[in-house]
Amino acid sequence: MISFFAHPELMVELEKNAVVPRHVAIIMDGNGRWAEEQKRPRIFGHRAGVDSVREIVETSRTLGIEFLTLYAFSTENWNRPTGEVSGLMGLLKNYLQSELRTMLKNDVRLCCFGEQERLPADVQTVLQQTIAETRMCRSMTLNLALSYGARSELVQAVQSLAQKCRDGILEWQDITEETISDHLFSAGQPDPDLLIRTGGENRLSNFLLWQSSYTELYFTEVKWPDFKKNQFLEAINIFNCRQRRFGRTSAQTKAV
Ligand code: FPP
Repeated sequence: MISFFAHPELMVELEKNAVVPRHVAIIMDGNGRWAEEQKRPRIFGHRAGVDSVREIVETSRTLGIEFLTLYAFSTENWNRPTGEVSGLMGLLKNYLQSELRTMLKNDVRLCCFGEQERLPADVQTVLQQTIAETRMCRSMTLNLALSYGARSELVQAVQSLAQKCRDGILEWQDITEETISDHLFSAGQPDPDLLIRTGGENRLSNFLLWQSSYTELYFTEVKWPDFKKNQFLEAINIFNCRQRRFGRTSAQTKAV
């Protein structure tokens, strides 16, 4: 489940023998407050947040993290002022357009978790192009959670399973944890090992509720625009101090 870290260049900053999580998920919070602290408009914070996205994607790829899931826009974020929503959509489109070449060079596959059909048409087009062009990339998967909500994801999965039962494709007794996982946006991907939330709040905010049952949670006061490589490595060092027992005793875990 955990892959060994094998990049000497960055080793100095990770604890000796540190292992890197296979899948990291991040709630990128604090952009608005970061901007307000500087008496700038909120979009200024989101723009600075894109620089952190670039640095964390690049660091993840260098470390050998296989899956990185970023919560970029929730189903609830549609309730924000129209100007902020359109500003965020513009940043997203620019990011996708400017990063395609780097994604291909670094062998990064883009996937989307969420209601793509609710995004503006121009963003959908660029998103679908980027997903299609990077579909053969294998070194890392970058999941952008866009118009994503975990409860809505579960409702869709349940509806789809109910339809299959009605159509005789599936027996209700055959519904297992695996079949449910297979009907989520994250189908085929491992659950996150580490979930980071920046910006000082200690909650999951409707993010990956099913997938994070046994995920290690890391909350930091650092606001997303200030969350860079060093803060990321610190989170991974702290992850390395955790003992993941998955319901077993400490003695059993050590024996494995
Ligand atoms: C939460 O901070 C952040 C968001 C709702 C948007 C995150 C978007 C980005 C980092 C930039 C665009 C993303 C990509 C992938 C290019 P907040 O605004 O709720 O901050 P606050 O809690 O301080 O108000």
